[in-house]
Amino acid sequence: MKRIRIFDTTLRDGEQAPGASLTPEEKIRLAHQLAKLGVDVLEPGFPISSPGDFQAVQAISRAVEGVEICGFARSVKGDIDAALKATEDASFRRIHMFLSSSDIHLDFQLRKSREQVIAMARDVVAYAKQFVDRIEFSPMDATRTGEEFLFEMIEAVIAEGATIINIPDTVGYALPDEYAGIFRRVRQSVRGGDTVEYSAHCHNDLGLAVANSLAAISAGVTQVEVTVGGVGERAGNCSLEELAMAIETRKLALQAETGIRSEEIYRTSRMVSRAMHFPIAFNKPIIGRNAFRHEAGIHQDGLLKSRNTYEIMDPEKMGIPRSMIVLGKHSGRHAIRHQIGELGIRLSDTEMESFYSSFKEYADTRKTVTDDELIALAGTAVNRNLDRFALADIQVVSGSNTTRVASATITDNETGSSASYSSVGQGPVEALIGCLKQAMPFPVEFVDLELHSLSAGETAGGQAEIIIEAENQEFTGSAEDKDILFAVARAFVAACNRACRSGIGADAVANGETAADDSVGAPDALLIP
Ligand code: KIV
Ligand code: ZN
Repeated sequence: MKRIRIFDTTLRDGEQAPGASLTPEEKIRLAHQLAKLGVDVLEPGFPISSPGDFQAVQAISRAVEGVEICGFARSVKGDIDAALKATEDASFRRIHMFLSSSDIHLDFQLRKSREQVIAMARDVVAYAKQFVDRIEFSPMDATRTGEEFLFEMIEAVIAEGATIINIPDTVGYALPDEYAGIFRRVRQSVRGGDTVEYSAHCHNDLGLAVANSLAAISAGVTQVEVTVGGVGERAGNCSLEELAMAIETRKLALQAETGIRSEEIYRTSRMVSRAMHFPIAFNKPIIGRNAFRHEAGIHQDGLLKSRNTYEIMDPEKMGIPRSMIVLGKHSGRHAIRHQIGELGIRLSDTEMESFYSSFKEYADTRKTVTDDELIALAGTAVNRNLDRFALADIQVVSGSNTTRVASATITDNETGSSASYSSVGQGPVEALIGCLKQAMPFPVEFVDLELHSLSAGETAGGQAEIIIEAENQEFTGSAEDKDILFAVARAFVAACNRACRSGIGADAVANGETAADDSVGAPDALLIP
């Protein structure tokens, strides 16, 4: 097996995506997570570009162990000095310089002759080599550069001491065979070409970044440059998780492996998406919310018999919480029974029959049936209340300059009693969750919220998916409503009901206690009589 080194440039090339900018603190937090994920090389920023980036690269060089840190620079001495300084405390480092090689860039952007750029490239590599042994050089726009000149430039920088040659497909133009061909030929044609490491760096303008990177691996490349979620300029870069999982899933065919710890993939991608405020497309391979969800009845049936009937990877191996079944009008009895079982509800065969027909009728009117709706439907069908708590009402006061205030009324279906709670927060969600937490008979941590718009034109609507933690276990809840705050509140209560059904807080539930009983007097725990 060939070991492929993963060079992560989420914090440099990824951050070049419009609107993705990160603070130094965010970069440091993400760098630690990327190290945990198992990347081999980390390019944390562009030190000359801003004081914040310099500071981030320096702090990461000092704090993140076990990863080679790469200082990024244009082919000018000022940039190289900044990259050298920012990375000087790293235990293991390299400098990465780039210079355009294509005629389009030389004529329109640099306005320099080929002789001039070769001289510049020689100069800067020789300069950096005095300070650092590991030098990566990238001829920018390499795939639109004639091979004769490209190879001349590469030969020149190898002669000056470059140890890693990256051939970037800067504008995402190459096709897999063409890209692989460049790597095959460069090693044979260039003096010193067999003494250096080769790296692939692909952009995704034609959706070929992963395919091109895999082609490069088959042509002998040992390093691939990637970003988490494929973030980056325009259509982005080669996506780390797609490449790593393609190699993992097809390692026999590719005869390659990486050091990526797949169980950290999901957490890392969520952190990057949050920090950059980039939502993940539902159908994004590996990390998209639909990547391992199935709605078609035939698929659901197959999966419940054996997961590999319709899945080539196990999502749990990537740290992705299991929720493979999405119920809708195509779902069959087997899947519905499975899903309500997952929610902690057991129905007799007769109950199941009456539930099945009401489910089908309801599902015909919806895109999907959420857990919350499923429980309510099952409850109606069997004439039993399957949820411990029901949200009776919410009131939220929002505004631009004020603290947000919320109140919520919750009914305890077991005792039939209702109580109202109020709370404040910096935002309406915080205020609302503050109320709901008080109503629960056990301590609840609010872990995560995803909100999706279901609006068309002026019609409002949103879907909320919430994760809570209680007694060190996570529970999810989802709900849809025209009022997104009501959807959030219902999703939260759904997650709490799920926790109750699994036995969380059973003692407190039996005694009729609520979290508010422990917090009387706290300003956000005011029980409205
Ligand atoms: O896409 C590109 O060409 C780059 C290089 C500067 C490596 O990001
Ligand atoms: Zn790039």
